[in-house]
Amino acid sequence: MEKTWWKESVVYQIYPRSFNDSNGDGIGDIQGIIEKLDYLKELGIDVIWLSPVYKSPNDDNGYDISDYYDIMDDFGTMEDWERLLDEIHARGMKLIMDLVVNHSSDEHEWFQQAKKSKDNPYRDYYIWRKGKDGREPNNWKSTFSGSAWEYNEATGDYYLHIFSKKQPDLNWENPELRQDVYKMMKWWLDKGVDGFRMDVINFISKVPGLPDAPNPNGEPYVSGSRYFKNGPRIHEFLQEMNEEVLAHYDVMTVGEMPGVDVEEAKKYTHFERNELQMVFQFEHMDLDSGPDGKWDLKPLDLRDLKASISRWQNGLNGAGWNSLYLNNHDQPRVVSRFGNDQEYRVESAKMLATFLHMLQGTPYIYQGEEIGMTNVHFEDIEDYQDIEIRNMYKEKVVEGNADHDQVMESIYTKGRDNARTPFQWNDLEHAGFTTGEPWIKVNPNYKHINAEKATADPDSIFHYYRQLIQLRKQQPIIVYGDYELILPVHEQIYAYIRHYEGEKLLVITNFGEEPVDFSLPEEIEFEPEERLIGNYADDQSHPGSFTLKPYEARVYKGK
Ligand code: NOJ
Repeated sequence: MEKTWWKESVVYQIYPRSFNDSNGDGIGDIQGIIEKLDYLKELGIDVIWLSPVYKSPNDDNGYDISDYYDIMDDFGTMEDWERLLDEIHARGMKLIMDLVVNHSSDEHEWFQQAKKSKDNPYRDYYIWRKGKDGREPNNWKSTFSGSAWEYNEATGDYYLHIFSKKQPDLNWENPELRQDVYKMMKWWLDKGVDGFRMDVINFISKVPGLPDAPNPNGEPYVSGSRYFKNGPRIHEFLQEMNEEVLAHYDVMTVGEMPGVDVEEAKKYTHFERNELQMVFQFEHMDLDSGPDGKWDLKPLDLRDLKASISRWQNGLNGAGWNSLYLNNHDQPRVVSRFGNDQEYRVESAKMLATFLHMLQGTPYIYQGEEIGMTNVHFEDIEDYQDIEIRNMYKEKVVEGNADHDQVMESIYTKGRDNARTPFQWNDLEHAGFTTGEPWIKVNPNYKHINAEKATADPDSIFHYYRQLIQLRKQQPIIVYGDYELILPVHEQIYAYIRHYEGEKLLVITNFGEEPVDFSLPEEIEFEPEERLIGNYADDQSHPGSFTLKPYEARVYKGK
């Protein structure tokens, strides 16, 4: 397997709006990030992924871009951004930018032109269709509720928006649009960025004809996602992008891909296919959802997690490369989700980190994960800012007849704002995030969960993450070893072995709050040499057989 810097890296995601506010306007900004780079250096991460900082009217917090060549006023200026890049590089770290090119903002100049008339030169930069029987062109549903189509008065037809109506989908069938995107990517790469995280990049090729989704129950809108995920020209587009842009730089790429399976991911990331290096897949993030999607709550069955992760570990081994994540700005906090954010917050956060960081792939840490930030409960729906939450609540409770309490429960469990409350720096007002009024309320638990406390405590989650990151630098087996699941049907223990050049790593994690006996299956040969890390004091028990404490995690190296 080829050794590369991006396989050996740990990435840290910054959601700029919620990270650190330097000017007291209640919104995080670029200068605020610069102030905290030494904190990230201390943590030991290698790469920063910055969620969008481009010009945007903020319908979806920057994932609706109105100018790809400029910085959002809330966040600062291009000079600020250039300084950020310099300061990151000066500390030996790298920066990857978010690339959002499935759609633009409706306020982008391209769309402003396109919507004027059918013969406008930019018309074909977007996806337009005539209505059908006085209705939308097809029955596809927007991710943010309602139809995926919006009527445009001036041209008398509809444009497609898989996300909000202020996020019109770009038309990748148009070679001029593609060239404009490549030009913009080169412009950023020439400024020195080290790669891209590509937003819903497997949505850019749609099935021609944009057919209705099968709709046996006759609901007004059904998801048409099978017609725009991993579409017929997707690999062609990505190979073209690679040839025209990416191949000319030593960069890191990760494509966000809802609805991708292992076989498809192998194609996207195969080292011989020249597309992307990694994808963000969603299988493990969907295991606690019922048939009606993310708001349909269902407890996680650990056996499903094992089956899914193992499929990805083995499926991409030697062919492509995995990204490893449990958190990001779209997901609830994992310590609340798969751990216990009360009595065992520290133990379970460390256990989940161990489970993830010892897998094969590149780990991603989302801001606040390293101090064990938790989900939030705002009683009042008005305190939620996320367009997805607001639209869903409106559709289900205000316009439909869903039960308020039940919908709030699903927001508490799955809502994206769980991840977007301000970073908790200290126990001062607004958690030290801002001296002004924060754009979204701070999680009230900041008095005891904050970075100042975590960095001062050698037993904190923060210092545990530091150790995990350091271990990756010292132990090539963590990066390059093969993966073998053991105890596949155990309901509480997730354990696996990594193999590399005659060495082994035994990773044992207890996903429950009850103590549980572990014994190594007889057919497994393992001679322990040392315990590399664990979230309880080392009791010197033999790794062949012992009792795991609540949410305990241990990693042994041996032969
Ligand atoms: C995925 C992003 O991560 C999410 O935050 C955003 O709302 C959608 N794509 C649309 O850009």
